[in-house]
Amino acid sequence: MSRRWKKMEVPGLEKVLIYETVGSTNDEAKLLAREGYPEGTLVIAEEQTKGRGRKGRDWFSVPGKSLTFSLLLRPPRSTSLALLCALSCAWALEEKGFHVLLRWPNDILLGDKKVGGILVESSFSGDELLCVVVGVGINVNETREDFPPSLRESATSLFLASSCMWQRGEILRSFLSFFFPVYFAWKERGGDFSPWIEDYEKRSSLLGKEVVVRWGEKTVRGVARGVKEDGSLVLANFEGETLVSWGEATLHEGER
Ligand code: BTN
Repeated sequence: MSRRWKKMEVPGLEKVLIYETVGSTNDEAKLLAREGYPEGTLVIAEEQTKGRGRKGRDWFSVPGKSLTFSLLLRPPRSTSLALLCALSCAWALEEKGFHVLLRWPNDILLGDKKVGGILVESSFSGDELLCVVVGVGINVNETREDFPPSLRESATSLFLASSCMWQRGEILRSFLSFFFPVYFAWKERGGDFSPWIEDYEKRSSLLGKEVVVRWGEKTVRGVARGVKEDGSLVLANFEGETLVSWGEATLHEGER
């Protein structure tokens, strides 16, 4: 383990691989899964040359300033895992004094700006779920100028929100110590998110607001009412019907 990443003793963490440069830590974790690496393998990168966000978007990060890592997991299913991971990020940042909001399903916000995101990807061998990779990107010590102009209004970092520099290893250690206990409990429950719904909803940036959810070609509009045990979003539309949705949510008016 390099000096920048002190040895982490967190129950659940099995192996730690640190790369100076990698395409995407998610891709690397998937390769390791095929080589037989165990659940609880952590891949950290100083620099990603092909960091990915949701919907095939690029994920911007700054070597030495951003926290970019992936965890190799072997759960029976992946539904609601992104929410569990987002909640663990919230707990880790709250422990450091931040006030965190979560934009369903897996954006981490400080105020109305995005400080982190989660990309959950599954690998199959035929029909069999081989592994699930949870990739997390958190903007830690970036200055405003570090972000490209297109992101300056919508993105923030822990540094920008607090005027303090943060040790990425400490943020990571805190995340892992919150994540693993709930992950094993969630896995034991077969992927049922029920025990954490209230905690998630308390931090939701969307609850009670009019949102538009896009899922492929489909668009659903309504007022966000909550999340379900499988991680889907519950909406009430204007005909008074209750809808359950997956996808990506934005506020109906004036949202990024
Ligand atoms: C999003 O908000 O769209 C999700 C962003 C996820 C970024 C992380 S950085 C580590 C891991 N490797 C990737 O290529 N993506 C995820």
